[in-house]
Order: sequence, then C-alpha cells, then structure tokens
Amino acid sequence: MTIAVLGATGMVGSRVVGEAGARGHRVLALSRKPPGQGPNVTPVAVDANDPSALREALTGATADAVVLTVRTLPVDQEFLVGATRTVLDVAARLGIRVLVVGGAGALRSPEDRGLLVADNPAYVPDEWRPVAAAGTAQLRACQAHPDADWAYLSPPALLEPGDRTGRYRRGTDTLLTGADGRSWISAEDLAVAVVDELETSGPGRHIHDVHRIRHFTVVHCDESPGLAAPA
Ligand SMILES: NC(=O)c1ccc[n+]([C@@H]2O[C@H](COP(=O)([O-])OP(=O)(O)OC[C@H]3O[C@@H](n4cnc5c(N)ncnc54)[C@H](OP(=O)(O)O)[C@@H]3O)[C@@H](O)[C@H]2O)c1
Repeated sequence: MTIAVLGATGMVGSRVVGEAGARGHRVLALSRKPPGQGPNVTPVAVDANDPSALREALTGATADAVVLTVRTLPVDQEFLVGATRTVLDVAARLGIRVLVVGGAGALRSPEDRGLLVADNPAYVPDEWRPVAAAGTAQLRACQAHPDADWAYLSPPALLEPGDRTGRYRRGTDTLLTGADGRSWISAEDLAVAVVDELETSGPGRHIHDVHRIRHFTVVHCDESPGLAAPA
C-alpha cells in the first residue's frame, strides 16, 4: 500500500511512519516541516489547512489511505475540525480511505456508557476538557461527512512513547482498561494497531467493513497478540 501520514513528525505520526515503512509499505510523510527521507519514506511539506496542496500530495503518489494524526498545542478545535473536513473532502474525491487518530474523550465511560469520557471528571480533569472536546468534535465531523470512507481510532486514556510489543486489545466505542486497571498503550503499539487496521481493511474495501464499526479503540495487552476480537 501507499500510506500518507499527515502529522508525520508527531508522537503518533512518526511511529506510524516507522511501522508502515518497516512493513514494506510506501509512506508519504506529510507535515509542514516533514521528516528526512528514509527507506520507503517520502517526505512532503504540506499544510493541512491547504486543500489544493493536500490534494496534489495525495493524488501525485496515488495513496491508498491517509492517516490523520495532526494536533496543535494549545488545542485549536477550529483547526482540528477544519483540517479533518479538508482531509475527508479530498479523500472522498480521490476515493481513498481515512484513518483518524483522535482522542479518548470521544469514547463512552465504561461505568456509564451514557457519559462521554470527555465529560467525565474521573478521566478528564478540567484543564484537559478543551482537548477532549476537540477530539469529540473531530469525531462528529467524521460522522457528519456524507461521502468519506473513514474510521476513527480513539487511544486509551494514556498514550505515550514506549516499547513496541505488538500486543494490544481492540474494542469499539467504550474506553478500555488493561488487566492492571490502566487505560494505556504505547505510541509504538498504537502504530501497530493503525497499520493492522489498514492492512486488514485492504485497498478496494471500505475501511469500516471488516469490523463493521467506524469508531474503535485499543489498549495495551500483556496476554494475547494483536488483532484480538473486539471487546
Ligand atoms: N489519550 C489520548 O486521547 C491522546 C493522547 C495523545 C495524543 N492523542 C491524539 O493523537 C493524535 C496525534 O497526537 P500527537 O501527540 O502525535 O501530536 P503531536 O506530537 O503534537 O504532533 C502533531 C503533528 O501535527 C502536525 N501538524 C500540526 N499542524 C499542522 C498543519 N497545519 N499541517 C500539517 N501538519 C500539522 C505537526 O507537524 P508540523 O508542525 O511539522 O506541521 C506534527 O507532526 C491527535 O489527534 C491527538 O489528539 C490522543
């Protein structure tokens, strides 16, 4: 596959670039200040706010899928939703799939499925609420898009650099915790889940057909290998 990663220099994006490249996929590494060239990796400078530049970058390389991993600090919900719509529009026109790496806030709380994690102080303290709300708005933008073939991956509550174990458990739209009670995964294992999802859905099939769900999550798992059955 040819996989475009938008946000290629970020914590998540850089791991997805590495994971996809190591598996032999062609990777377009897109960000405003792209990383250096590597085996299977072509850096492309592009601003997610510029639809024509984005379309040109994706068309020229005939990408099969786009992984969207952009964010800004401090959070800018308008940018995030706008950039997401731009990517969905361009991808829909080109007929390619979009996998959005979004936020845990868009998930349901395990103890009260009617309460979003973004609105649950047990998981999201006040100072993080705008970040969680932006992720939820990003999911709504995906759900509102009339044509795009998208999936939205919510990380668990804690996502940070760590080891690549290749082990994770997959769920749907409710926050998962591991056997130790922690809702956690390394960015390396999240990247494994991203590339697994793209490989499993495969070119020419709709990204959500395989698991029949567009919003999914993953969590670190000690016990069993990746691609475990949905929780
Ligand atoms: N537990 C959780 O829910 C959790 C935790 C962490 C992250 N996340 C989510 O995971 C995703 C990735 O986060 P991250 O931590 O990897 O982010 P990050 O490290 O801050 O990286 C952000 C990336 O976005 C790029 N970017 C920013 N503005 C851009 C623009 N206008 N055009 C093109 N690229 C742009 C940056 O590159 P340039 O500056 O070079 O353009 C960079 O590569 C986000 O959706 C974030 O909310 C969720």
